[in-house]
Amino acid sequence: MNRNDTYNMKRKINVLLIGTASRAQSLIRTMIQLPDVKIAALCDLQKSRMEKAAKIITDAGLPPPKMHTDYKQLLNMKGLDAVIVATAWNSHIPICIDALNAGLYVGTEVGCASSLEECYDLVKTSERTGKPCMMLENCCYGKNEMLIGNMIRDGVFGDIVSASCGYMHDLRVLAKQQYPYRLMQNVFRYGDLYLTHGLGPVCQWLGINKNNRILSVVSMSSAARGFSSWIKENMPEDQQRQKLHFNNGDMTETMIRCANGEMITITHTISLPVPYSRRNGLFGTKAAYSEDCKGICIDSPDHKGEHKWTPIEDFYAKYNDPAWEKFEKSGLQADHGGMDYHVIRAFVDAVKKQTQTPIDVYDTATWAAVSVLSEQSIIHGSSPVFMPDFTNGKWLSRDINNRGNFKSPAKFD
Ligand SMILES: NC(=O)c1ccc[n+]([C@@H]2O[C@H](COP(=O)([O-])OP(=O)(O)OC[C@H]3O[C@@H](n4cnc5c(N)ncnc54)[C@H](O)[C@@H]3O)[C@@H](O)[C@H]2O)c1
Repeated sequence: MNRNDTYNMKRKINVLLIGTASRAQSLIRTMIQLPDVKIAALCDLQKSRMEKAAKIITDAGLPPPKMHTDYKQLLNMKGLDAVIVATAWNSHIPICIDALNAGLYVGTEVGCASSLEECYDLVKTSERTGKPCMMLENCCYGKNEMLIGNMIRDGVFGDIVSASCGYMHDLRVLAKQQYPYRLMQNVFRYGDLYLTHGLGPVCQWLGINKNNRILSVVSMSSAARGFSSWIKENMPEDQQRQKLHFNNGDMTETMIRCANGEMITITHTISLPVPYSRRNGLFGTKAAYSEDCKGICIDSPDHKGEHKWTPIEDFYAKYNDPAWEKFEKSGLQADHGGMDYHVIRAFVDAVKKQTQTPIDVYDTATWAAVSVLSEQSIIHGSSPVFMPDFTNGKWLSRDINNRGNFKSPAKFD
Protein backbone atom coordinates (compact mmCIF):
# COMPACT_ATOMS: atom_id res chain seq x y z
CA MET A 1 0.00 0.00 0.00
CA ASN A 2 1.47 3.42 -0.89
CA ARG A 3 1.16 6.63 1.11
CA ASN A 4 -1.73 7.85 -0.97
CA ASP A 5 -3.75 4.72 -0.17
CA THR A 6 -3.16 5.22 3.55
CA TYR A 7 -4.18 8.83 3.26
CA ASN A 8 -7.37 8.00 1.36
CA MET A 9 -8.35 4.99 3.42
CA LYS A 10 -11.37 5.29 5.72
CA ARG A 11 -10.66 4.30 9.31
CA LYS A 12 -14.06 2.82 10.04
CA ILE A 13 -16.86 1.93 7.65
CA ASN A 14 -20.61 2.04 8.25
CA VAL A 15 -22.53 -1.01 7.10
CA LEU A 16 -26.24 -1.72 6.61
CA LEU A 17 -27.28 -5.38 6.81
CA ILE A 18 -30.45 -6.31 4.95
CA GLY A 19 -31.95 -9.63 6.04
CA THR A 20 -31.10 -10.56 9.62
CA ALA A 21 -31.88 -14.27 9.95
CA SER A 22 -29.37 -16.99 10.84
CA ARG A 23 -26.81 -16.21 8.13
CA ALA A 24 -26.76 -12.50 8.89
CA GLN A 25 -26.50 -13.18 12.61
CA SER A 26 -23.48 -15.35 11.96
CA LEU A 27 -21.88 -12.54 9.91
CA ILE A 28 -22.68 -10.06 12.68
CA ARG A 29 -20.80 -12.23 15.20
CA THR A 30 -17.76 -11.98 12.92
CA MET A 31 -18.13 -8.27 12.15
CA ILE A 32 -18.43 -7.12 15.77
CA GLN A 33 -14.84 -8.30 16.26
CA LEU A 34 -13.56 -5.93 13.58
CA PRO A 35 -12.58 -2.53 14.96
CA ASP A 36 -12.89 -0.89 11.55
CA VAL A 37 -16.54 -1.86 10.99
CA LYS A 38 -19.65 -0.30 12.49
CA ILE A 39 -22.94 -2.11 11.89
CA ALA A 40 -24.85 1.13 11.58
CA ALA A 41 -28.24 -0.25 10.53
CA LEU A 42 -30.30 -3.41 10.20
CA CYS A 43 -33.34 -4.21 8.11
CA ASP A 44 -35.66 -7.20 8.06
CA LEU A 45 -39.29 -7.69 7.15
CA GLN A 46 -39.63 -9.46 10.50
CA LYS A 47 -39.08 -7.17 13.47
CA SER A 48 -38.30 -9.99 15.91
CA ARG A 49 -35.37 -11.19 13.80
CA MET A 50 -34.01 -7.68 13.55
CA GLU A 51 -34.21 -7.27 17.30
CA LYS A 52 -32.42 -10.57 17.87
CA ALA A 53 -29.64 -9.46 15.52
CA ALA A 54 -29.43 -6.03 17.19
CA LYS A 55 -29.01 -7.73 20.58
CA ILE A 56 -25.82 -9.46 19.37
CA ILE A 57 -24.43 -6.00 18.64
CA THR A 58 -25.50 -4.31 21.88
CA ASP A 59 -24.48 -7.33 24.00
CA ALA A 60 -20.98 -6.76 22.65
CA GLY A 61 -21.09 -3.25 24.09
CA LEU A 62 -21.49 -1.60 20.68
CA PRO A 63 -23.94 1.19 19.82
CA PRO A 64 -27.45 0.04 18.82
CA PRO A 65 -28.02 0.03 15.07
CA LYS A 66 -30.79 1.97 13.38
CA MET A 67 -33.61 -0.41 12.37
CA HIS A 68 -36.34 -0.42 9.75
CA THR A 69 -38.49 -3.01 7.99
CA ASP A 70 -38.13 -1.16 4.66
CA TYR A 71 -34.53 -1.09 3.44
CA LYS A 72 -35.26 1.79 1.08
CA GLN A 73 -35.70 4.01 4.14
CA LEU A 74 -32.12 3.24 5.20
CA LEU A 75 -30.16 3.40 1.93
CA ASN A 76 -29.74 7.17 2.13
CA MET A 77 -28.59 7.19 5.75
CA LYS A 78 -25.84 9.72 6.32
CA GLY A 79 -22.34 8.21 6.40
CA LEU A 80 -23.32 4.79 5.06
CA ASP A 81 -20.52 3.09 3.06
CA ALA A 82 -21.75 -0.39 2.28
CA VAL A 83 -24.67 -2.79 2.26
CA ILE A 84 -24.62 -6.52 2.92
CA VAL A 85 -27.59 -8.44 1.54
CA ALA A 86 -28.51 -11.65 3.40
CA THR A 87 -32.13 -12.10 2.36
CA ALA A 88 -33.72 -15.01 0.48
CA TRP A 89 -32.41 -15.77 -3.02
CA ASN A 90 -35.01 -14.07 -5.18
CA SER A 91 -34.55 -10.68 -3.54
CA HIS A 92 -30.72 -10.54 -3.59
CA ILE A 93 -30.25 -8.92 -6.99
CA PRO A 94 -33.11 -6.36 -6.84
CA ILE A 95 -31.84 -5.19 -3.43
CA CYS A 96 -28.23 -5.08 -4.71
CA ILE A 97 -29.37 -2.91 -7.62
CA ASP A 98 -31.14 -0.46 -5.28
CA ALA A 99 -28.07 -0.27 -3.05
CA LEU A 100 -25.72 0.33 -6.02
CA ASN A 101 -28.06 3.06 -7.22
CA ALA A 102 -27.74 4.66 -3.78
CA GLY A 103 -23.96 4.87 -4.45
CA LEU A 104 -22.96 2.13 -2.00
CA TYR A 105 -20.57 -0.81 -2.10
CA VAL A 106 -22.55 -4.05 -2.06
CA GLY A 107 -21.77 -7.48 -0.69
CA THR A 108 -24.38 -10.12 -1.40
CA GLU A 109 -24.90 -13.53 0.11
CA VAL A 110 -24.70 -16.56 -2.14
CA GLY A 111 -27.61 -18.03 -4.06
CA CYS A 112 -29.07 -18.54 -7.48
CA ALA A 113 -30.43 -15.91 -9.85
CA SER A 114 -34.04 -15.78 -11.03
CA SER A 115 -33.27 -14.75 -14.60
CA LEU A 116 -30.45 -13.69 -16.91
CA GLU A 117 -32.10 -10.28 -17.19
CA GLU A 118 -31.50 -9.51 -13.54
CA CYS A 119 -27.84 -10.57 -13.91
CA TYR A 120 -27.45 -8.11 -16.82
CA ASP A 121 -29.21 -5.40 -14.81
CA LEU A 122 -26.82 -5.97 -11.93
CA VAL A 123 -23.76 -5.62 -14.16
CA LYS A 124 -25.11 -2.53 -15.95
CA THR A 125 -25.99 -0.83 -12.66
CA SER A 126 -22.57 -1.51 -11.17
CA GLU A 127 -20.86 -0.21 -14.33
CA ARG A 128 -23.05 2.90 -14.41
CA THR A 129 -22.66 3.77 -10.73
CA GLY A 130 -18.99 2.72 -10.53
CA LYS A 131 -19.78 0.77 -7.35
CA PRO A 132 -18.64 -2.84 -6.96
CA CYS A 133 -20.90 -5.75 -6.11
CA MET A 134 -19.17 -8.72 -4.49
CA MET A 135 -20.76 -12.11 -3.98
CA LEU A 136 -19.64 -12.95 -0.44
CA GLU A 137 -18.69 -16.49 -1.40
CA ASN A 138 -16.93 -17.52 1.78
CA CYS A 139 -15.73 -20.82 0.29
CA CYS A 140 -13.39 -18.90 -2.02
CA TYR A 141 -11.54 -18.15 1.23
CA GLY A 142 -11.50 -21.73 2.56
CA LYS A 143 -8.10 -22.84 3.82
CA ASN A 144 -7.81 -25.67 1.31
CA GLU A 145 -9.31 -23.66 -1.55
CA MET A 146 -6.71 -20.91 -1.01
CA LEU A 147 -3.94 -23.48 -0.63
CA ILE A 148 -4.85 -25.04 -3.98
CA GLY A 149 -4.83 -21.53 -5.51
CA ASN A 150 -1.30 -21.01 -4.22
CA MET A 151 -0.19 -24.38 -5.63
CA ILE A 152 -1.70 -23.57 -9.03
CA ARG A 153 0.16 -20.27 -9.05
CA ASP A 154 3.35 -22.14 -8.22
CA GLY A 155 2.85 -24.41 -11.24
CA VAL A 156 2.36 -27.61 -9.21
CA PHE A 157 -0.64 -28.74 -11.28
CA GLY A 158 0.93 -28.10 -14.68
CA ASP A 159 -1.71 -27.38 -17.32
CA ILE A 160 -5.17 -27.72 -15.84
CA VAL A 161 -7.71 -29.57 -17.95
CA SER A 162 -10.62 -30.20 -15.63
CA ALA A 163 -12.14 -29.29 -12.28
CA SER A 164 -15.04 -30.65 -10.28
CA CYS A 165 -17.17 -29.15 -7.56
CA GLY A 166 -20.66 -29.32 -6.10
CA TYR A 167 -22.95 -29.08 -3.16
CA MET A 168 -23.89 -32.33 -1.48
CA HIS A 169 -25.76 -31.55 1.69
CA ASP A 170 -28.67 -33.45 3.17
CA LEU A 171 -31.15 -30.61 3.65
CA ARG A 172 -34.38 -32.64 3.67
CA VAL A 173 -35.20 -30.96 6.96
CA LEU A 174 -35.94 -27.82 4.88
CA ALA A 175 -39.34 -29.43 4.38
CA LYS A 176 -40.17 -28.52 7.99
CA GLN A 177 -39.36 -24.81 7.68
CA GLN A 178 -42.12 -22.36 8.53
CA TYR A 179 -41.28 -20.10 5.54
CA PRO A 180 -39.89 -22.69 3.12
CA TYR A 181 -38.73 -20.45 0.23
CA ARG A 182 -35.77 -22.70 -0.50
CA LEU A 183 -37.98 -25.78 -0.54
CA MET A 184 -40.37 -24.01 -2.92
CA GLN A 185 -37.50 -23.23 -5.31
CA ASN A 186 -37.11 -27.01 -5.58
CA VAL A 187 -40.84 -27.50 -6.04
CA PHE A 188 -41.14 -25.06 -8.92
CA ARG A 189 -37.71 -24.82 -10.52
CA TYR A 190 -35.17 -27.14 -12.12
CA GLY A 191 -31.43 -27.31 -12.06
CA ASP A 192 -28.40 -26.60 -9.95
CA LEU A 193 -29.90 -23.95 -7.69
CA TYR A 194 -27.09 -23.70 -5.13
CA LEU A 195 -23.70 -24.02 -6.67
CA THR A 196 -21.38 -21.18 -5.82
CA HIS A 197 -19.73 -22.77 -2.75
CA GLY A 198 -18.02 -25.17 -5.13
CA LEU A 199 -18.03 -23.18 -8.35
CA GLY A 200 -16.69 -19.91 -6.92
CA PRO A 201 -13.27 -21.28 -5.94
CA VAL A 202 -13.04 -23.29 -9.18
CA CYS A 203 -13.72 -20.15 -11.25
CA GLN A 204 -10.94 -18.40 -9.36
CA TRP A 205 -8.55 -21.32 -9.92
CA LEU A 206 -9.28 -21.23 -13.66
CA GLY A 207 -9.20 -17.45 -14.03
CA ILE A 208 -12.84 -17.17 -15.19
CA ASN A 209 -13.56 -13.61 -16.40
CA LYS A 210 -9.82 -12.94 -16.38
CA ASN A 211 -8.42 -14.30 -19.65
CA ASN A 212 -10.81 -17.24 -19.50
CA ARG A 213 -14.59 -17.50 -19.45
CA ILE A 214 -17.48 -19.92 -19.22
CA LEU A 215 -18.74 -20.66 -22.72
CA SER A 216 -21.58 -23.10 -22.23
CA VAL A 217 -23.51 -25.15 -19.69
CA VAL A 218 -25.21 -28.56 -19.92
CA SER A 219 -27.28 -30.06 -17.09
CA MET A 220 -29.08 -33.32 -16.47
CA SER A 221 -31.28 -34.12 -13.51
CA SER A 222 -32.44 -37.38 -11.94
CA ALA A 223 -35.92 -38.25 -10.72
CA ALA A 224 -37.19 -36.31 -7.71
CA ARG A 225 -38.10 -38.67 -4.86
CA GLY A 226 -36.01 -37.57 -1.86
CA PHE A 227 -38.09 -34.75 -0.37
CA SER A 228 -41.45 -36.52 -0.95
CA SER A 229 -40.32 -39.75 0.67
CA TRP A 230 -38.84 -37.84 3.65
CA ILE A 231 -42.03 -35.78 4.13
CA LYS A 232 -44.12 -38.95 4.02
CA GLU A 233 -42.04 -40.59 6.74
CA ASN A 234 -41.32 -37.58 8.92
CA MET A 235 -44.37 -35.33 8.57
CA PRO A 236 -47.33 -37.72 8.12
CA GLU A 237 -49.70 -35.23 9.78
CA ASP A 238 -48.95 -32.42 7.28
CA GLN A 239 -51.46 -33.02 4.48
CA GLN A 240 -50.50 -29.85 2.64
CA ARG A 241 -46.80 -30.74 2.35
CA GLN A 242 -47.67 -34.36 1.46
CA LYS A 243 -49.22 -32.98 -1.72
CA LEU A 244 -46.10 -31.10 -2.86
CA HIS A 245 -44.77 -32.24 -6.22
CA PHE A 246 -41.06 -31.53 -6.68
CA ASN A 247 -39.83 -30.56 -10.13
CA ASN A 248 -36.15 -30.49 -9.25
CA GLY A 249 -34.36 -33.83 -9.42
CA ASP A 250 -32.55 -35.23 -6.39
CA MET A 251 -29.25 -35.29 -8.27
CA THR A 252 -28.23 -32.74 -10.88
CA GLU A 253 -25.01 -32.96 -12.84
CA THR A 254 -23.84 -29.89 -14.73
CA MET A 255 -20.98 -29.66 -17.19
CA ILE A 256 -19.31 -26.44 -18.19
CA ARG A 257 -16.99 -25.74 -21.11
CA CYS A 258 -14.45 -22.93 -20.63
CA ALA A 259 -12.80 -20.79 -23.30
CA ASN A 260 -9.33 -22.16 -22.46
CA GLY A 261 -10.61 -25.70 -22.97
CA GLU A 262 -11.13 -26.75 -19.37
CA MET A 263 -14.22 -28.70 -18.33
CA ILE A 264 -15.97 -28.14 -14.99
CA THR A 265 -18.43 -30.66 -13.56
CA ILE A 266 -20.84 -29.68 -10.78
CA THR A 267 -22.98 -32.00 -8.64
CA HIS A 268 -26.00 -30.77 -6.72
CA THR A 269 -27.94 -32.85 -4.24
CA ILE A 270 -29.78 -31.64 -1.14
CA SER A 271 -32.55 -34.24 -0.87
CA LEU A 272 -30.69 -37.53 -0.38
CA PRO A 273 -28.89 -39.03 2.63
CA VAL A 274 -25.31 -38.10 1.67
CA PRO A 275 -22.39 -36.76 3.72
CA TYR A 276 -21.58 -33.08 3.17
CA SER A 277 -19.13 -32.30 0.37
CA ARG A 278 -18.32 -29.42 -1.96
CA ARG A 279 -16.68 -32.05 -4.16
CA ASN A 280 -13.77 -29.85 -5.13
CA GLY A 281 -11.34 -31.49 -7.48
CA LEU A 282 -8.67 -30.34 -9.88
CA PHE A 283 -6.91 -32.26 -12.60
CA GLY A 284 -3.76 -31.09 -14.35
CA THR A 285 -0.90 -32.58 -16.32
CA LYS A 286 1.33 -32.68 -13.22
CA ALA A 287 -1.03 -33.19 -10.27
CA ALA A 288 -4.57 -33.86 -9.09
CA TYR A 289 -6.56 -32.74 -6.04
CA SER A 290 -9.63 -34.35 -4.51
CA GLU A 291 -11.52 -32.90 -1.55
CA ASP A 292 -13.39 -36.18 -1.11
CA CYS A 293 -10.15 -38.17 -1.02
CA LYS A 294 -8.63 -35.46 1.21
CA GLY A 295 -5.45 -35.41 -0.80
CA ILE A 296 -3.23 -34.28 -3.59
CA CYS A 297 -1.41 -36.58 -5.99
CA ILE A 298 1.70 -35.16 -7.61
CA ASP A 299 3.11 -36.94 -10.62
CA SER A 300 6.47 -38.54 -9.97
CA PRO A 301 8.50 -41.44 -11.41
CA ASP A 302 8.47 -42.93 -7.87
CA HIS A 303 4.79 -43.80 -8.27
CA LYS A 304 5.72 -46.76 -10.47
CA GLY A 305 2.27 -46.86 -12.00
CA GLU A 306 0.27 -46.72 -8.78
CA HIS A 307 -0.80 -43.20 -7.90
CA LYS A 308 -1.70 -42.36 -4.31
CA TRP A 309 -3.23 -39.39 -2.53
CA THR A 310 -0.92 -37.53 -0.16
CA PRO A 311 -2.90 -35.96 2.72
CA ILE A 312 -3.52 -32.28 2.03
CA GLU A 313 -2.20 -31.39 5.49
CA ASP A 314 1.28 -32.37 4.28
CA PHE A 315 1.21 -29.30 2.02
CA TYR A 316 0.22 -26.77 4.68
CA ALA A 317 3.80 -25.96 5.70
CA LYS A 318 4.68 -24.78 2.19
CA TYR A 319 1.39 -23.54 0.73
CA ASN A 320 -0.91 -22.41 3.55
CA ASP A 321 -1.96 -18.88 2.67
CA PRO A 322 -0.36 -16.13 4.80
CA ALA A 323 -3.88 -14.78 5.50
CA TRP A 324 -4.72 -18.10 7.17
CA GLU A 325 -1.46 -18.21 9.14
CA LYS A 326 -2.25 -14.75 10.49
CA PHE A 327 -5.87 -15.65 11.26
CA GLU A 328 -4.92 -18.87 13.06
CA LYS A 329 -2.66 -16.91 15.42
CA SER A 330 -5.14 -14.05 15.91
CA GLY A 331 -7.67 -15.61 18.30
CA LEU A 332 -10.50 -14.25 16.12
CA GLN A 333 -13.65 -16.38 15.89
CA ALA A 334 -15.65 -16.89 12.71
CA ASP A 335 -18.11 -19.49 11.48
CA HIS A 336 -17.43 -22.06 8.75
CA GLY A 337 -14.01 -22.81 10.18
CA GLY A 338 -12.88 -19.19 9.82
CA MET A 339 -13.54 -18.55 6.15
CA ASP A 340 -16.36 -16.11 7.01
CA TYR A 341 -13.71 -13.83 8.53
CA HIS A 342 -11.64 -13.78 5.34
CA VAL A 343 -14.53 -12.99 3.02
CA ILE A 344 -15.76 -10.14 5.22
CA ARG A 345 -12.19 -8.86 5.67
CA ALA A 346 -11.68 -8.80 1.88
CA PHE A 347 -14.95 -6.90 1.34
CA VAL A 348 -14.27 -4.42 4.14
CA ASP A 349 -10.73 -3.77 2.88
CA ALA A 350 -12.04 -2.95 -0.60
CA VAL A 351 -14.64 -0.57 0.86
CA LYS A 352 -12.04 1.14 3.02
CA LYS A 353 -9.59 1.58 0.15
CA GLN A 354 -12.39 2.29 -2.35
CA THR A 355 -10.91 -0.29 -4.70
CA GLN A 356 -12.49 -3.05 -6.78
CA THR A 357 -13.68 -6.02 -4.73
CA PRO A 358 -11.72 -9.29 -5.24
CA ILE A 359 -14.91 -11.00 -6.43
CA ASP A 360 -16.36 -8.40 -8.78
CA VAL A 361 -19.75 -7.84 -10.36
CA TYR A 362 -18.83 -9.94 -13.43
CA ASP A 363 -18.00 -12.90 -11.19
CA THR A 364 -21.15 -12.32 -9.14
CA ALA A 365 -23.35 -12.24 -12.26
CA THR A 366 -21.61 -15.20 -13.94
CA TRP A 367 -21.75 -17.49 -10.92
CA ALA A 368 -25.40 -16.63 -10.25
CA ALA A 369 -26.27 -17.07 -13.95
CA VAL A 370 -25.03 -20.68 -14.05
CA SER A 371 -28.11 -21.66 -12.01
CA VAL A 372 -30.42 -20.14 -14.65
CA LEU A 373 -28.52 -21.76 -17.52
CA SER A 374 -28.62 -25.11 -15.74
CA GLU A 375 -32.41 -24.76 -15.48
CA GLN A 376 -32.70 -23.78 -19.15
CA SER A 377 -30.56 -26.74 -20.21
CA ILE A 378 -32.73 -29.23 -18.31
CA ILE A 379 -35.94 -27.73 -19.70
CA HIS A 380 -34.45 -28.09 -23.20
CA GLY A 381 -33.71 -31.80 -22.68
CA SER A 382 -30.12 -31.26 -21.49
CA SER A 383 -29.03 -29.28 -24.51
CA PRO A 384 -26.10 -26.88 -24.19
CA VAL A 385 -26.93 -23.26 -23.44
CA PHE A 386 -24.55 -20.38 -23.89
CA MET A 387 -23.22 -18.16 -21.14
CA PRO A 388 -23.49 -14.46 -21.94
CA ASP A 389 -20.25 -12.54 -21.76
CA PHE A 390 -21.16 -10.14 -18.94
CA THR A 391 -17.76 -8.46 -19.28
CA ASN A 392 -18.53 -7.52 -22.91
CA GLY A 393 -15.10 -8.65 -24.07
CA LYS A 394 -13.16 -7.27 -21.10
CA TRP A 395 -12.26 -10.82 -20.02
CA LEU A 396 -9.81 -10.92 -22.95
CA SER A 397 -7.61 -8.15 -21.67
CA ARG A 398 -8.12 -7.92 -17.93
CA ASP A 399 -5.03 -7.88 -15.74
CA ILE A 400 -4.91 -11.43 -14.48
CA ASN A 401 -2.62 -10.46 -11.64
CA ASN A 402 -5.27 -8.16 -10.22
CA ARG A 403 -7.54 -10.97 -9.11
CA GLY A 404 -7.92 -10.84 -5.40
CA ASN A 405 -6.96 -14.20 -3.99
CA PHE A 406 -5.37 -16.03 -6.77
CA LYS A 407 -3.11 -15.33 -9.63
CA SER A 408 -3.91 -17.12 -12.83
CA PRO A 409 -2.14 -20.32 -13.71
CA ALA A 410 -2.19 -19.17 -17.35
CA LYS A 411 1.18 -18.60 -18.94
CA PHE A 412 2.00 -15.85 -21.43
CA ASP A 413 4.37 -16.80 -24.19
N1 LIG B 1 -22.31 -18.29 2.76
C1 LIG B 1 -22.81 -19.21 3.55
O1 LIG B 1 -22.10 -20.05 4.07
C2 LIG B 1 -24.28 -19.22 3.79
C3 LIG B 1 -24.83 -20.03 4.81
C4 LIG B 1 -26.21 -19.97 5.00
C5 LIG B 1 -27.00 -19.17 4.20
N2 LIG B 1 -26.43 -18.42 3.21
C6 LIG B 1 -27.24 -17.54 2.37
O2 LIG B 1 -27.63 -16.41 3.16
C7 LIG B 1 -28.92 -15.96 2.78
C8 LIG B 1 -29.83 -15.88 3.99
O3 LIG B 1 -29.91 -17.14 4.57
P1 LIG B 1 -30.78 -17.42 5.88
O4 LIG B 1 -30.71 -18.86 6.14
O5 LIG B 1 -30.38 -16.46 6.94
O6 LIG B 1 -32.20 -17.10 5.20
P2 LIG B 1 -33.66 -16.94 5.70
O7 LIG B 1 -34.54 -17.22 4.60
O8 LIG B 1 -33.82 -17.71 6.99
O9 LIG B 1 -33.75 -15.40 6.04
C9 LIG B 1 -33.87 -14.39 5.12
C10 LIG B 1 -34.27 -13.15 5.94
O10 LIG B 1 -34.37 -12.07 5.01
C11 LIG B 1 -35.54 -11.33 5.33
N3 LIG B 1 -35.99 -10.65 4.10
C12 LIG B 1 -36.45 -11.21 2.96
N4 LIG B 1 -36.76 -10.25 2.06
C13 LIG B 1 -36.45 -9.08 2.65
C14 LIG B 1 -36.54 -7.73 2.24
N5 LIG B 1 -37.01 -7.39 1.05
N6 LIG B 1 -36.15 -6.76 3.11
C15 LIG B 1 -35.69 -7.09 4.35
N7 LIG B 1 -35.58 -8.35 4.78
C16 LIG B 1 -35.96 -9.32 3.96
C17 LIG B 1 -36.54 -12.37 5.82
O11 LIG B 1 -37.56 -11.78 6.61
C18 LIG B 1 -35.62 -13.30 6.63
O12 LIG B 1 -35.51 -12.90 7.98
C19 LIG B 1 -29.40 -16.94 1.71
O13 LIG B 1 -29.16 -16.36 0.46
C20 LIG B 1 -28.52 -18.16 1.87
O14 LIG B 1 -28.34 -18.85 0.68
C21 LIG B 1 -25.10 -18.44 3.01
